[in-house]
Amino acid sequence: MDGGKAAKKRRVESNNGSEKQAAGGQQTGDNGGNNNTSLMFGLKEEVGILARTLKLFEEHDINLSQIESRPSKRVEGNYEFLVLCDEKADKLDAVLDKLKEKAKYVHVLSRSQDENTSSVDKIPWFPRRIRDTDDFANNIMSYGSELDADHPGFTDDVYRARRKEFADIAFHYKYHTPIPRVTYTEEEIKTWGNIFREVSKLFPTHACREFNHIYPLLVENCGYREDNIPQLEDVSNFLKDCTGFTLRPVAGLLAPRDFLAGLAFRVFHSTQYIRHGSKPWYTPEPDVCHELIGHVPLFADPSFAAFSQEMGLASLGAPDEYIKKLSTLYWFTVEFGMCIQNGHKKAYGAGLLSSREELKYCLTDEPATRPFDPAVTAEQEYPITSLQPIYFVAESFEDAKDKMRKYAASIPRPFSVRYNPFTQTIEVLDKKMQLKDLATSIRGDLNILIDAVNKVS
Ligand SMILES: [Fe+2]
Repeated sequence: MDGGKAAKKRRVESNNGSEKQAAGGQQTGDNGGNNNTSLMFGLKEEVGILARTLKLFEEHDINLSQIESRPSKRVEGNYEFLVLCDEKADKLDAVLDKLKEKAKYVHVLSRSQDENTSSVDKIPWFPRRIRDTDDFANNIMSYGSELDADHPGFTDDVYRARRKEFADIAFHYKYHTPIPRVTYTEEEIKTWGNIFREVSKLFPTHACREFNHIYPLLVENCGYREDNIPQLEDVSNFLKDCTGFTLRPVAGLLAPRDFLAGLAFRVFHSTQYIRHGSKPWYTPEPDVCHELIGHVPLFADPSFAAFSQEMGLASLGAPDEYIKKLSTLYWFTVEFGMCIQNGHKKAYGAGLLSSREELKYCLTDEPATRPFDPAVTAEQEYPITSLQPIYFVAESFEDAKDKMRKYAASIPRPFSVRYNPFTQTIEVLDKKMQLKDLATSIRGDLNILIDAVNKVS
């Protein structure tokens, strides 16, 4: 199993996580009608810090209905705290900002809605600001160094220690800070080099036009070479210049709702560790090869970036059953999508482009192909331990984006959302004034368009 299977593993675990969340009421907004929010945070080792931290809640008139402590899984010898509190969104935001200054990490496990949407019952919480990604990026469903018994690195203590180093980088990462650079070992570079060399041979004939346009730019600008694993920070800066997408390090598998929410802000949660060197063509989880070779190139393409963001925006506040459908759409597009160019099938999904075996297979006549239609694609079952029997083929990224937008309109939620790139916030369009502001903004853009068309003519 190689890169393609990495994506599949993500999906399998994601499904499990989704069920766990529904059962536990996390991220579903199903909090029994109470305005309760649950938080988890780890404190630095200082005398009296817990008392001072709890004082923050009191100062903001937030009642704590439950507090528990447990040994930290992240920092040996430390404790982390879980609190359940009543809240008003504006007050809690203030506490969260101060709490982040005191705590080693803060995770919002579940949250009730703020006053803007209080009239709508049981809408799952979703981030409004790009820095809110700090609140859920560490809500992973598997810890980066806790490997399953069938993982190739399970009995390798050196590999496990290495995985913990990568996990710690992700756990301590804060939005808007540089992603720490990593010095990869010779063995890690050799593993990367094997994969990079083999799949690169296939790209000219098997990858879509947009991918082949961007790939050489990554070689030129970001150190994509057989003897070098690119740094996430360099790649993130490159993407930001191209489409505004950025990378954020993640320690393990995120729940689908959180992962999709990141896309709404053009944030892609990327692993930084590499698969175990004993099996370069097998990994049971996404790794840096899958992310950088498979995913990154197309996030630099404006149409694909817009399509990916559209999927993320559609997920915000969507009911659980639609998160499952959107995850399936993600699977058949961003992970295993294909398109037709000049009458030939080409791959654009990351699971294909980072997998030597599946990249060859997907262009043969063996698998079936279907036109990409979100309503149909979202219902398609698929295997997770073998090559895909069916691929969905998009006419173009623009066409796929338009179809996704129409599909998003069918998701039952009593508001529309729009990303404001100037403030990097999600605007919930559920008030007349907001619609008026949007109309004004569109009118301004239309005037620019008309002026430009006249001048070009
Ligand atoms: Fe992936």
